[in-house]
Amino acid sequence: MTQNRTPLRYPGGKQKLTPFVVEVLRANGLEGGHYVEPYAGGAGVAMELLIDGCVEHVHLNDSSYHIYSFWNSLLTQPDEFCNRISRSLLNVDEWRNHREVLRHPEQHSEFDVGFATFYLNRSNRSGVLTGGVIGGLNQSGKWKIDARFPRNELIRRIELISSFRDSITVCNLDAEEFFATYVPILPEETLVYCDPPYFEKASRLYLNHYAPEDHERIADTIQELENVKWIVSYDGVDKILSYYAQRRKFLYELQYNASRAYKGSEVFIFSDDLVIPRSSALPFISSALKANTRTLHVNALAA
Ligand SMILES: C[S@@+](CC[C@H](N)C(=O)[O-])C[C@H]1O[C@@H](n2cnc3c(N)ncnc32)[C@H](O)[C@@H]1O
Repeated sequence: MTQNRTPLRYPGGKQKLTPFVVEVLRANGLEGGHYVEPYAGGAGVAMELLIDGCVEHVHLNDSSYHIYSFWNSLLTQPDEFCNRISRSLLNVDEWRNHREVLRHPEQHSEFDVGFATFYLNRSNRSGVLTGGVIGGLNQSGKWKIDARFPRNELIRRIELISSFRDSITVCNLDAEEFFATYVPILPEETLVYCDPPYFEKASRLYLNHYAPEDHERIADTIQELENVKWIVSYDGVDKILSYYAQRRKFLYELQYNASRAYKGSEVFIFSDDLVIPRSSALPFISSALKANTRTLHVNALAA
C-alpha cells in the first residue's frame, strides 16, 4: 500500500504509479540513481521514491513560479513553513488573503507565494489553485475549508521531506529549456518521468498548460533526448498517440477525481532503450491502479 508523501493535492497526481516506476528502475539498473520530473507538480512519485530509498537524488522542475516557490520554501525554510501551518487560520478571510498573494506574486516574498500556493492547494476544491474554496464562500457546503487540511499530518510530511533536502534539487524552468540545458548534464543512471499537462482539460486544472502545437513540439523534444531513459504519461487521446506513434506504449482507462469524477484513458510511453518490466508490468499497473482503474487495454508492447 503506497503512502502519500507529498503535501500537495494534485489533479492527476501520479503517486499511485510509484510501484510501477520502482519496477522500471529495477529492470533498468537505475535503483540508487537520479530521478527527474520536468513537470513536477506535487511530485508524489519523486517523494515516495526518495523517501523509500529507491533513488539517491531527485530533480524537480516546474515552470509555475507558484509551484516552484512552494518546493523551494519548504526545502529552505521548513521550520517556518511548519509554524505557518500550525498558526494559520482556516477561514474564508485568510483564504482571500492567500488568494491575493497568488494573484500578485511579484508583490510578495517567495516564501509567502509558496505558502499561499500550499494553503489554496489544500483548501480549494480538488486542489485546483484557480478553483473555489471547499464549502463555498459562505461555508455552507457539507465539507468545510479545513476538510483537506490535517495540520499534523501535513507538518509530518514536510518535516520528512525536508530531512532529505540535500537530495532534492528544484528548478523553475520551462520544460523545453530544462530538456535543453539541464537534462544533458545529468548522470547516465537517470530516469526521467515526464507528466506534462493533459492534452485535454488542462486549462481548468493548472495555471500553466500547453496549446496543441506545444504538445507536438514537446513530443519531438522528448523523443530526441539521448543520454537518459524516459517515460511519458498523458491522457490517451489520438493526437498524443500519433505524436509518439513509433514508441512502445500502453493505454489504460482511469477514473479521475478533479472537481467531478469522469472516466478517461491514459497512456504510458517509453524510450526505446528502456527495459519494460514485462513479467510484472501489466498486472502491476492494474493492481497499482486498482482503486480507480476500470479496464486495462494493452495498446502496443513491442519488442
Ligand atoms: C500533470 S501536472 C504534473 C503532476 C505531477 N506528476 C504529480 O503527480 O503531482 C503538470 C505540471 O506541469 C507544469 N507545467 C505546465 N507547463 C509547463 C512547462 N512548459 N514547463 C514545465 N512545467 C510545466 C504545471 O505547472 C503542472 O504542475
